[in-house]
Amino acid sequence: MRLLYAFLVLLPLSNGLSPHCPGRCSCDSAQLVQCYRLMEVPSGIPSTTKKLYISHSKIQHLQLSHFIRVLALEDFILLASGTESVESDTFKAMSTLKTLELWKNKLRRVPGALPASLEVLNLNDNSINVLHGSDFEGLKKLKILELKNNLISSLSPSTLSPLVSLQSLMLDSNNVESVAGPLTLPHLKHMSMENNKLYLIPDNFFNSLQSLQFLSFSGNFLTKMPTNLPKSLLSLKMERNQLKVVSFRDTKHLENLSHLYLSENLLSSIDGAQLLANLTTLELSQNRLQTLPLRLPARLQKLDCSNNLIQRVTAQDFQDLRDLKHLFLDNNIVSWFEAGALQRCSQLSNLALEQNLLLSIPLRLPGTLARLDLKGNAIADIAERELRDLKQLQVLNLRNNKISALDLKALEGLPRLRHLYLDGNPWNCTCSLLRAREVLKAKGTDVRGGQCAAPAEQQGESWMSSKKIMRQCEHHLRLTEKSKETKKKSKPEDPSSVRISLDDDYDDYEID
Ligand SMILES: *[C@@H]1O[C@H](CO)[C@@H](O)[C@H](O)[C@H]1NC(C)=O
Ligand SMILES: *[C@@H]1O[C@H](CO)[C@@H](O)[C@H](O)[C@H]1NC(C)=O
Ligand SMILES: *[C@@H]1O[C@H](CO)[C@@H](O)[C@H](O)[C@H]1NC(C)=O
Repeated sequence: MRLLYAFLVLLPLSNGLSPHCPGRCSCDSAQLVQCYRLMEVPSGIPSTTKKLYISHSKIQHLQLSHFIRVLALEDFILLASGTESVESDTFKAMSTLKTLELWKNKLRRVPGALPASLEVLNLNDNSINVLHGSDFEGLKKLKILELKNNLISSLSPSTLSPLVSLQSLMLDSNNVESVAGPLTLPHLKHMSMENNKLYLIPDNFFNSLQSLQFLSFSGNFLTKMPTNLPKSLLSLKMERNQLKVVSFRDTKHLENLSHLYLSENLLSSIDGAQLLANLTTLELSQNRLQTLPLRLPARLQKLDCSNNLIQRVTAQDFQDLRDLKHLFLDNNIVSWFEAGALQRCSQLSNLALEQNLLLSIPLRLPGTLARLDLKGNAIADIAERELRDLKQLQVLNLRNNKISALDLKALEGLPRLRHLYLDGNPWNCTCSLLRAREVLKAKGTDVRGGQCAAPAEQQGESWMSSKKIMRQCEHHLRLTEKSKETKKKSKPEDPSSVRISLDDDYDDYEID
């Protein structure tokens, strides 16, 4: 019944668009035909069709006879249609076919006899377990080959060698355990083999990949950096492997390398990173570093050393990093932060120091900081001299520390402060804390205050919104001429507005 209804709805629609458009399809003037929920490739597709898109259908087998009328096809996309097999020679005669996408099906092998005109072949999300010697024969124009999320277990250079124009090869999420070299793909720019089972890359693997710029081996079992990496590399991803030591003496020829990702390995030391002269991003999160890398590349803009075992931050670590904008040192065991350690980093805007063992806010931080995260340390008070240079600061996170009182002067010196996180501290809710509250409200800063720990009668009260404390301090506040004025300006008082987003994910605040 439902089927019939759908049929009746679709019928006038498709016929209305074009007299020759098959059912469950829509045909437009640009020779594009799109079909859904088919049981087979329709026979009535106009012979002028250039692009045929079929999805969410049930077409177990593709055969030559389906396509006799549409030999001028340029793009054929068949996705999520349960296709298991393709008759050999099905695409052979389509001499204009440029894009063939058969993703999210159940194919067990690469379709045979593909036309030489093909430029894009996407077979992601199938069940292909072997690449055969003849699979890519004659595909001299193929630029993009995507085989992500299949079951391929090995890769031999001769299989891919016909692909003389190939620029992008994606083999992520297969079962590749071994690769042999040299891979001869002179125009290859992007290669990704993330989430496979590689434990070794042979020395000669890259010998004939002289155009390679983006390479990813993240999510494998590699214990060493590959050797003989191509000089042309711009980005190298080696996250989630088992690297223990990296010496950049072997990679100093990578003069253009700008992005290097080494997070989630077992690194306890990094040697010679300064040799990568053009590196701008270095990610070393979730390793076992006990110190910052000895000498860092001078052009670095982003350094992520979070989730390591770093104890000390010194000026020497950062003396040459004038371009550094983002520094992540959170989730370490930093207890000693040298005063002025980051003074030379005159571009620094984002400093993450949360979840460390700091007892106070580091002194002489760069005045360019827009965001400072000190959540989860052991900071007991805020002093004016620690914050007075931070004229650009917009976000200050002091959540979960040991602060009980606020120095008003320290906060008045932060003209651009928009978000202040103070909850999770043992607040002593005196009337002077309430004065600080009025000043912050007048400034328009969005404050998460948290609860009082003292005095006993205020315990558990939320000090940014409590009317009870307000009443008790009213007399006190009235005595202070200044705060009286501020109070007027900051009306209307509405406790609910303060609470608006108390439960938000506080890690995702934005900075203009
Ligand atoms: C490095 O980059 C420059 C500028 O883009 C380019 O001219 C040069 O050929 C590159 N070097 C290598 C080895 O690819
Ligand atoms: C990399 O650095 C070298 C000199 O150190 C320079 O000649 C080259 O142009 C740089 N490449 C890029 C892409 O910046
Ligand atoms: C809270 O502040 C008051 C006034 O400064 C002080 O007397 C008291 O000892 C403080 N309480 C705690 C628990 O620090």
